[in-house]
Amino acid sequence: MQASVPTKLADPDPAAQPLGSSGLRGVGVVSRRLEYALAALPNAADEAVQELEQAFERELCPTLDYEMLAVPFARRYLMINYWKSIMALREVLRGKTFGPEPVRIVDLGAGSAATTVAMLALVDELSVVETPVEVILIDRSSGQLALGAELIAAVRTALPGLRVEVQSETIDISTQTPWVSLLEGATFVLASHVLTENFEEADRLLLAILSAVGPDTETVVIERVDDTVWGKIEEAGTHAALPMVLGEFGVAAEDLPGGLNGRLSGWLSVRYGRWTSPADARLPETVRRYFAAWATKSASLLDDVFTNDAEYVERPFGEPLLGLDAIRAYWVATVCSQTDPRPRVIGSTYEERVAMIEWSTAMRRGRRDKTVTGAMILTFDAETARIRTLREYFDSSELIERA
Ligand SMILES: C[S@@+](CC[C@H](N)C(=O)[O-])C[C@H]1O[C@@H](n2cnc3c(N)ncnc32)[C@H](O)[C@@H]1O
Repeated sequence: MQASVPTKLADPDPAAQPLGSSGLRGVGVVSRRLEYALAALPNAADEAVQELEQAFERELCPTLDYEMLAVPFARRYLMINYWKSIMALREVLRGKTFGPEPVRIVDLGAGSAATTVAMLALVDELSVVETPVEVILIDRSSGQLALGAELIAAVRTALPGLRVEVQSETIDISTQTPWVSLLEGATFVLASHVLTENFEEADRLLLAILSAVGPDTETVVIERVDDTVWGKIEEAGTHAALPMVLGEFGVAAEDLPGGLNGRLSGWLSVRYGRWTSPADARLPETVRRYFAAWATKSASLLDDVFTNDAEYVERPFGEPLLGLDAIRAYWVATVCSQTDPRPRVIGSTYEERVAMIEWSTAMRRGRRDKTVTGAMILTFDAETARIRTLREYFDSSELIERA
């Protein structure tokens, strides 16, 4: 009788040799591949990792030279940001499946691609036939982009349902504007831990992103739960007039596959914002123009907001205003006489050519403050995307004497 000899494993480290697809997939498998790829990065970075940790302890958002710190950053934070992204993006993808329709992912401030890899792992889990995926990584650090592309390549064989192509663009999104054209046709726009690094202009950047996205795009922002940049994100998010969801998740690090290999213990939490653009991206644009006309008290902006024969029902039992001229006259009489109006969209939904918008505005009356809150139902002209009918319902608070 012959003794059975255990088969020798060729090499337990998949990063050490090119892998064929094992057919295994899922966020846990991808995380293992990332761990192996990270272990294969140069080791000399231990001191730099410590320096990085100290920088984050000193300051919530230190200014970092990512050209120098790409590898240490990945070694310290890649897996953490991967799992944070998984938690947020799993919610965004709930109920979706992916087929042969191409998916386009644009990752702004992509860094070492933690969020893109998380998105790829999740899309792969939900892909029912091979799904072509185009990834556009945008970062101002070419070192980060090179590392990001390398890490995507390292997990590729754990994504058997996807055909992935990667394009990298070295762009500073705070100073160069042509990047917004790269958002065209995006299925997902991701901005993870990048708005906080551009704190001063975080609101301007987010509004630029949300104004540029095309139809049926999901934009997802991920930042630390306690980051003060959320105030700016929420403010810009309301001005975009897109359906907005803010959410928070947490998980015990020990419950994650691999437990982050000791990189983190305790609780891992994430906060995210999600904006969904409707099938006709011109509709929120018209709504933004309506609110800009209100905030700036401009009657001339209305020409691009309403059709010539629009109907405006300001009060349920009042006479409707018929036609653009009547609406302009009402605007001059009622809106232009308001002092310091600050209207904002606080909720919105779109369905084909109909929108429901919930709004609120603060304004002044002499030395007194007043808040008006309401909702309006809009229908849009198919050709011009201008408003054909507007019906609104609102109420106002008591006037409050200013101190
Ligand atoms: C904290 S890392 C986050 C990386 C990745 N998104 C993640 O969540 O792990 C921030 C990244 O944003 C990039 N970044 C910061 N400001 C940027 C800007 N204005 N334009 C382009 N990239 C920027 C940095 O180079 C860095 O790679």
